[in-house]
Amino acid sequence: MTTVSEAILSRRSIRSFLDKPVPPDLISKIITQAARAPSGGNLQPWYVDIVTEDSHKRLLDLIQTKIASNPTGETKHYDFYPSDLPDKYTNRRRATGAGLYEAMGIAYDDKEARWDAMKLNWAFFGAPVGLFFSIDKFMGKNQWCHLGMLMQNISLLAIENGLATCMQEAWAVYSDTMHEFLNLPEERIFYCGMALGYEDKNAPVNKFITKRENITEFVSFID
Ligand SMILES: Cc1cc2nc3c(=O)[nH]c(=O)nc-3n(C[C@H](O)[C@H](O)[C@H](O)COP(=O)(O)O)c2cc1C
Repeated sequence: MTTVSEAILSRRSIRSFLDKPVPPDLISKIITQAARAPSGGNLQPWYVDIVTEDSHKRLLDLIQTKIASNPTGETKHYDFYPSDLPDKYTNRRRATGAGLYEAMGIAYDDKEARWDAMKLNWAFFGAPVGLFFSIDKFMGKNQWCHLGMLMQNISLLAIENGLATCMQEAWAVYSDTMHEFLNLPEERIFYCGMALGYEDKNAPVNKFITKRENITEFVSFID
């Protein structure tokens, strides 16, 4: 049995998956268990839409046409990052991007190759299952945080079940399309996607392991 620490320490964002289906019952089991996530007032302020097989193929076909006709993306419904991100965070982001491109054999200044790598997001990096998370527009920061707890539970339960994930805000670049494709009601906001499947352990991109700061950087024990 996978321990919590084993699941946490072995979870990574996986960006190349095997062409191997995930049984629908397993997806339902993972989400049922993940929904034990806490939420303030037990509001359970989350919605999950899942594409597999036919819907997965239809979405990937559709999104290809959107990428071709509108490569810069649609209106953003929320900011992925603050516009005035301090250096501390920009540096971490750059280091992560640089490590990722290095693992893929892409030179950091090769914009075309980077764009090709970015586009793999919109194919779930080859994963056979795509999960999409949305929340009611009237919910606040507090509830968005709780949605994140559900997502983290899914990613850890995936590990326990021999699966892998990559969370993907990239899908929110095409929020209008996703809203329409998933038939989300007007009062809903599309948050992000998650690729789910079996890791391709031979893929160089999956060898990249991100760093973390020492806890002394962000933890204060108060006397
Ligand atoms: C909400 C969320 C959205 C993300 N969106 C993307 C994405 O669109 N594409 C991608 O390749 N990685 C995405 N990531 C993965 C992060 O880059 C990754 O979690 C971070 O670099 C730490 O690496 P690790 O997950 O391997 O530990 C996302 C992560 C989170 C939490």
